[in-house]
Amino acid sequence: MAKIFMSRRLPSEAIKMLEKHELDIYEGDSPPDKQEIIKRVKDKDILISLLTDAIDKDVINASPSLKMIANYAVGYDNIDVKEATKRNIVVTNTPGVLTETVADLTWALILSIARRIVEGDKFMRQGKFKGWAPLLMLGGDIYKKTLGIIGAGRIGKAVAKRAEGFRMNIIYYSRHRNEEMERIAKYVSLNDLLKKADFISLHVPLTNETYHLIGRNELKMMKKTAYLINTARGKCIDEDALYEALKNGEIAGAALDVYENEPNVNKNLIKLDNVVLTPHIGSASLETRTKMAVMVAENVLSFLKGEIPPNCVNLEVYKK
Ligand code: NAP
Ligand code: GLV
Ligand code: GLV
Repeated sequence: MAKIFMSRRLPSEAIKMLEKHELDIYEGDSPPDKQEIIKRVKDKDILISLLTDAIDKDVINASPSLKMIANYAVGYDNIDVKEATKRNIVVTNTPGVLTETVADLTWALILSIARRIVEGDKFMRQGKFKGWAPLLMLGGDIYKKTLGIIGAGRIGKAVAKRAEGFRMNIIYYSRHRNEEMERIAKYVSLNDLLKKADFISLHVPLTNETYHLIGRNELKMMKKTAYLINTARGKCIDEDALYEALKNGEIAGAALDVYENEPNVNKNLIKLDNVVLTPHIGSASLETRTKMAVMVAENVLSFLKGEIPPNCVNLEVYKK
């Protein structure tokens, strides 16, 4: 029987799968703070963490018995994987099961920002609609426009595939060329993508390389009529630079699901009409959150059987 700390209550399917083990669940409505995590993880074998938990050196080294960190997310930038690997702690994530759900939300954002859906909804509720008018709420077209995907991974490809239905011209940039992507999209440099795309959508993980990937200079390269969509990680965009670009009309709009300093939102961005904001809900469908929970439990159970868990992100631990 393993001792497990779960930093928030996951869907019941996962709890059921782990019921033979000693499960300590943090039951708060908001994420536990660092001191709480350190206190609860102290005597545990396994930590089931969320992307809202910073699993840094202090947390990792707070428990001499810790052997595994199972993250309930595909992104694992919240974990100091290098430090975990040093301690031979196995780290897992939840790839694949959320891909289509995040791609759907990305498209919801593309459509919302271009066709001013959120602004229009507010306008209706405020009783401002006085009837059809030739120049009322003119937005941008999507059909046959150019979509630029940054990061040709699972989600980037799923977003590109949906663009075929809109007969878009699809271009992409990634560190490596991707065969599957090139059936429908053309590989370009990052600068070319920034200059040519009408819609730019970010699908990279947060790493040292992608921190502020989109900053002042990149925004300046974009078309004045272009839209920026981010369902990756907030820190991939310099939010202050984005605010300036939106305010000064350097780009047409932005739609964001993720923020530089979650859960805080840039106070200036909130004031703008040409921004759509959602609360980090990319994977938030009932079906997908359940599949992610089952995947976390499968990773844990597989690890406890002495196998290499299916979604291990630091295989180096097994090669030592
Ligand atoms: P993935 O399959 O690993 O795709 C990410 C792609 O980014 C990789 O294929 C990689 O391809 C590319 N990449 C990495 N570093 C890059 C760089 N420096 N420049 C350009 N491209 C780079 O991951 P995924 O499952 O699609 O998920 C992507 C990210 O979405 C996650 O890491 C997470 O942060 C975010 N996410 C957000 C939500 C949400 O709720 N909003 C939900 C799920 C995921 P190359 O090797 O070719 O560079
Ligand atoms: C969500 O943001 C994830 O990385 O799964
Ligand atoms: C608009 O409703 C139209 O009929 O063109």
